[in-house]
Amino acid sequence: QHIVLAFSGGLDTSVALVWLKERYRCRLTAFIADLGQGEELGVAARKAEKLGADEVRVVDLREEFARDFAFPMYRANALYEGQYLMGSSIGRPLIAAAHLRVAEEVGADAVAHGATGKGNDQIRFEMTFAALRPDLTVISPWREWEFASRSDLLDYAGKHGIELDLSSGDRPYSIDSNLLHTSYEGEALEDPAQPAPEGLLFRVRDLADTPAEPETVEIHFEGGNPVGVNGESLSAAGVLQALDEIGRRHGIGRLDIVENRIFGMKTRNIYEAPSGTLLWHGHRAVESLVLDPEVAQLKEELMPKYTALVYRGLWFAPERLMLQTAIDFSQQNVTGDAILRVHRGTVQVIGRRSPHSRYDTAFATFEADDVFDQRDSSGWLRVNTVRFRAGRGTAPVQP
Ligand code: ARG
Ligand code: SIN
Repeated sequence: QHIVLAFSGGLDTSVALVWLKERYRCRLTAFIADLGQGEELGVAARKAEKLGADEVRVVDLREEFARDFAFPMYRANALYEGQYLMGSSIGRPLIAAAHLRVAEEVGADAVAHGATGKGNDQIRFEMTFAALRPDLTVISPWREWEFASRSDLLDYAGKHGIELDLSSGDRPYSIDSNLLHTSYEGEALEDPAQPAPEGLLFRVRDLADTPAEPETVEIHFEGGNPVGVNGESLSAAGVLQALDEIGRRHGIGRLDIVENRIFGMKTRNIYEAPSGTLLWHGHRAVESLVLDPEVAQLKEELMPKYTALVYRGLWFAPERLMLQTAIDFSQQNVTGDAILRVHRGTVQVIGRRSPHSRYDTAFATFEADDVFDQRDSSGWLRVNTVRFRAGRGTAPVQP
């Protein structure tokens, strides 16, 4: 048997690697997805080899992640439960799709992942596997092995000489990083009343250390996608990288929330999403000039539905593609610049411009104009208040 394991170098996938080799006596390829985690990739690759992987494949998915996953989601302005920008949710379908490509290349007959049996990620992985390769065997160690907890995994890791990154405490947190964000979960964060331990959050600067002076950032968009920052054209991943640097410096995009998981339990998560936060505000700013008002409002109504599909692992499902097609149709003229000011953890839109702007000073102005006759409003108001005036005296009164 030949298994491809999606490997990150964290506690779960490290134990999974050793356990799979032991339990299945298989050939094992460790697949490491590069979504922009940086130096931890090299560490993970060396670790996979040391733990006994027969082959290690690091696949650079950064451009694909930005262009084909992050950007489509940002075109929708997706936001889960009013706050979470879904940096992890959108990474999983790409990791799973690339996982299948590796399985194909090496001729593997099974794929395995280290997500738990309670969480969201298992669903995102396996929905993607099912949508793209329904015939392939999926192994989910967390749903098979004798270990019941992270503590059991730590024991096993100790016995098998599996080294862990303990830079943020005695026990490793569940962390997921990519070009959009870093998420932190578990351990001391499991008490939602307790603030995150000192030194845990590493992506974004503490507010106390951010520059005293604000900084202005311009994001340039074409057809709904960001194509440059501060006058410089950049690749898709390059845009996220540039926004990430600016956002980190100013402490942008830190979020500490309790969210509802797919299975219905609540979980406390901390996120740091500097690039995502800037992009979300910038995209909306350009859209605000350009979209037809009815289209803009319909888009707002579709957003929670679209968001739920992404959160629930249905990226490759036909209903997501259907909504995406409608959303993308609305983006043809979403070209222009958003001007943002970042300072001490805050993002403010301070300007926006577009060659396709529908903003019309003659209509909008409080000064005299020759396009709108204010007397016309009287007729509109008379017609639209019929329901209050007809049947006088029968309308319910304030309780
Ligand atoms: N709760 C978030 C989500 O469902 C984050 C999941 C992070 N995953 C992880 N393996 N740490 O999108
Ligand atoms: C996990 O359970 O493996 C991580 C968190 C999640 O998937 O929701």
